[in-house]
Amino acid sequence: MSSVNCHLFCLSVYYYRFHKEDCKDVARMIMELAVFEKMPDQAKISHEELERDGFCQNPFFECLVAEVSDEHRSKDGHTVVGYGLYYYTYSTWKGRSVYLEDLYVMPEFRGNGIGKGLMCKVAKVKKQCVRLQLAVLDWNSPARDFYAAKGAQDLTDSEGWHFIRFDGLSLDNLVKDAPKD
Ligand SMILES: CC(C)(COP(=O)(O)OP(=O)(O)OC[C@H]1O[C@@H](n2cnc3c(N)ncnc32)[C@H](O)[C@@H]1OP(=O)(O)O)[C@@H](O)C(=O)NCCC(=O)NCCS
Repeated sequence: MSSVNCHLFCLSVYYYRFHKEDCKDVARMIMELAVFEKMPDQAKISHEELERDGFCQNPFFECLVAEVSDEHRSKDGHTVVGYGLYYYTYSTWKGRSVYLEDLYVMPEFRGNGIGKGLMCKVAKVKKQCVRLQLAVLDWNSPARDFYAAKGAQDLTDSEGWHFIRFDGLSLDNLVKDAPKD
């Protein structure tokens, strides 16, 4: 539990590794983030899929959530108000790395240190990693400034990396063209 100073009150925030019961809140906030990122149609994940993939024998991801006390719940009645979803990756140059897929704090709770709290907790949980990486949309200046203020470097600017994806047909075609076992 940590206390942060708010504009109007002292807010206690509890950060913890998500439980199965938190998947509904995480799915809700994933959709809120997709709306914020102007791509609501892209978010297809259900809380059942999060439960399946986050709580199987070798989970595909991990997640930290931020919870406020009941007296500080959101206007819609939510107490889980932020999350950071991450998983391991591996750098062939540097070794163990963690990828922060999503970082999100509900609008009414922003500016109270919760985003920083989640990001620092992820870094701490994964302290055996040498890198924490993430992608941010080019127009999302507040988030880009937030990361820059915490010392992150923008690899597109400094090294020219592009972010590449295969999915749908392009992924099916790769599978089709795979050499036989
Ligand atoms: C980005 C986001 C996670 C930050 O969370 P937050 O709780 O609002 O931020 P915090 O209150 O923890 O800010 C922590 C620190 O960053 C600084 N900061 C926050 N926003 C900043 C900005 N736009 N520019 C510079 N610094 C900023 C704060 O001043 C604070 O500095 P301090 O540690 O010196 O006190 C949150 O605003 C959010 O969910 N935004 C919408 C979704 C989003 O953009 N997610 C990231 C997608 S990649």
